[in-house]
Amino acid sequence: HSITPFIASLPKVELHIHIEGTLQPALRWKLAQRNNVPLKVRDKVYRTYEELLDSYKVIYNHRPELGGRKDVPSFLEAYFAGCEVLLKEDDFYDLAMDYLSRCRAMNVRYAEPFFDIQAHTRRGVAADAVLNGYLRAQKDGAEKYGVRSNWIFCFLRDEPVDEGEAAYDAALPWAAVKGGKGLFHAVGLASNAYERPILLFKNAFERARRDGLHTTTHCDFGQKDTHEHIRQAIFEVGVERIDHGLDVLDREELVAGLKKRNVGLTLCPHAYHRRTATEVLFPKLRQLLDRGVQYCINSDDPVYMHDVWVDGNMEKAYYYGGLSKAEMVQLSRNAVDMCWADDEVKKGIY
Ligand code: ADE
Ligand code: ZN
Repeated sequence: HSITPFIASLPKVELHIHIEGTLQPALRWKLAQRNNVPLKVRDKVYRTYEELLDSYKVIYNHRPELGGRKDVPSFLEAYFAGCEVLLKEDDFYDLAMDYLSRCRAMNVRYAEPFFDIQAHTRRGVAADAVLNGYLRAQKDGAEKYGVRSNWIFCFLRDEPVDEGEAAYDAALPWAAVKGGKGLFHAVGLASNAYERPILLFKNAFERARRDGLHTTTHCDFGQKDTHEHIRQAIFEVGVERIDHGLDVLDREELVAGLKKRNVGLTLCPHAYHRRTATEVLFPKLRQLLDRGVQYCINSDDPVYMHDVWVDGNMEKAYYYGGLSKAEMVQLSRNAVDMCWADDEVKKGIY
């Protein structure tokens, strides 16, 4: 789809984007050369730029009931394989500046990107390199492109909880709390949710909250145990937002819980559309509006999702969801309401 002038012109706020999921093949190629790192996933090596580009065309689907296959890399394998070229502070800086410059082009005025520090420290990269690279981009992106950002530290939920807490300890001096450097103002939970409910991280989340940080968690669409994960997120851990969480529509008590506690959903339509029929998926966007659930539209991992960015995701909601212009404006405003920027910044967005 091309982006209509209406969607292009909407002032946007992006609240669900993994910075490592914005690593475009051109930069990945460049960093591979710069750092002398081979480009590969599993035992497949990409020797030419064309081979690398071809690798992004795949539709990741590990669910046999949906025609998926296990003999090809999973989405997360591809995502973490992409990370391997990121080694030095400048690499993280270049990645983030690439995203923030793209924000400007898409009229994204403010963003809250996720970062997976453990994806780098477990490869031997120093936490400082990651955090200082993103911190420098946060400042330069605001100055150069006029795009402000407050970042979100993600625990990798499929790694041991104590390793996540250790990563958090290392990152805390970069938090936007008293005396901190101001990079991140929230924590989230990402990576593979299989048998890794948020309750395992309850203490980690409570600590972050006591430190003065906001909280959100992934509850992936169609995931095993997703309703239980959402229930824990709302009622037991008490997060402020849920990333995805589209399955709430199946349970009245979950819808009621979201509304009562003012929890909004950060949805990523193309991420679901990759493996869900149009006529199943898009009526859900209308149902959420009808049932008074607050949500906004985002992109997740655009580079690993066929290069569909936040504007493309909005275009899909508009086109397939049959939402009106007024409703699209409302969704853009929802993102402003749901974001954790200072009131001054919020006022400047809309
Ligand atoms: N981390 C980065 N992208 C993710 C996704 N789409 N789902 C879960 N964890 C992720
Ligand atoms: Zn996500």
